[in-house]
Amino acid sequence: MARLFHIVEAQQFDRELLGEIFAVAQEMEQVVQHYGSNILNRRVMATLFYEPSTRTRLSFESAMRRLGGEVITTESAQEFSSVAKGETLEDTIRIVSGYADLIVLRHNESGASRRASEVSPVPIINAGDGPGQHPTQALLDLYTINREIGRLDNLAIAMVGDLANGRTVRSLCYLLAKYKDIKVYFVAPPVVRMGDDIKAYLKRHKINFEESDNLHQVATQVDVIYQTRIQRERFGDRPADYEQARGKYIIDRSVLDCMRAHTIIMHPLPRVDEIKREEVDTDPRAAYFRQAHNGLYVRMALLKMILAR
Ligand code: NCD
Repeated sequence: MARLFHIVEAQQFDRELLGEIFAVAQEMEQVVQHYGSNILNRRVMATLFYEPSTRTRLSFESAMRRLGGEVITTESAQEFSSVAKGETLEDTIRIVSGYADLIVLRHNESGASRRASEVSPVPIINAGDGPGQHPTQALLDLYTINREIGRLDNLAIAMVGDLANGRTVRSLCYLLAKYKDIKVYFVAPPVVRMGDDIKAYLKRHKINFEESDNLHQVATQVDVIYQTRIQRERFGDRPADYEQARGKYIIDRSVLDCMRAHTIIMHPLPRVDEIKREEVDTDPRAAYFRQAHNGLYVRMALLKMILAR
């Protein structure tokens, strides 16, 4: 089995390792059906969250418990941990690494997980570093695309919404760049366009992409529409930009009507008003709740691959 240690950024994976993770994740669907396993018996995972989370933290914690491991946690670490007394991230990590066999870290600063990994003797998993990356989300996104569409090469995908501040779309671009015949459409309000660093990366990896302002037209061309929330918490003193960005691209009945029968709608969640719930949720092409559930299997696979002896 390939060795996995820190998970800091999506670029670190290669196709072979991705295939292996997805195969283990599929096994984990069976493990959950059969009420879990004991392979991580008495191993301890710490979840250290400096930003809000529901899915990421609970799915990691559920994953650890379903494999027989234990969980220690501090949510709102900004407020409830020694950070409130002025402790640096590095010191916190040095301490927690003495109490846990693995640390899942969510932080408000881009690069925080890399810094943590430089001082940590135990594996660090980046569960979102500010506007930087969210690699385990991208893994579950890719797993979902493979399960729903049946392939990862030869795909057309639209990324919609806050592409400047959304870390999930950034990580997803890095992962998609590992595959062949990928076409990416970026559909974003002008104030939150996809960053030049990602565009340069896609160019270097010969991934075909284009920016569009016509969601309805793009909806006719793609296999996946990946909608995102306008990341209000990243706008700071620019509330006017937030107001301008929100509500520009909404998935509703008229977008569903443009989509082909096999095309799916994904969203990392939470959503605010960028999907019209009552028009879209009951359509079988709405894949976002299935996507969130896949997070459990993928995170179980990662924990098993990192921690099982
Ligand atoms: C995302 C995140 O935290 O980046 N949520 C998640 O982990 N599923 C997306 C978001 O907050 O909009």
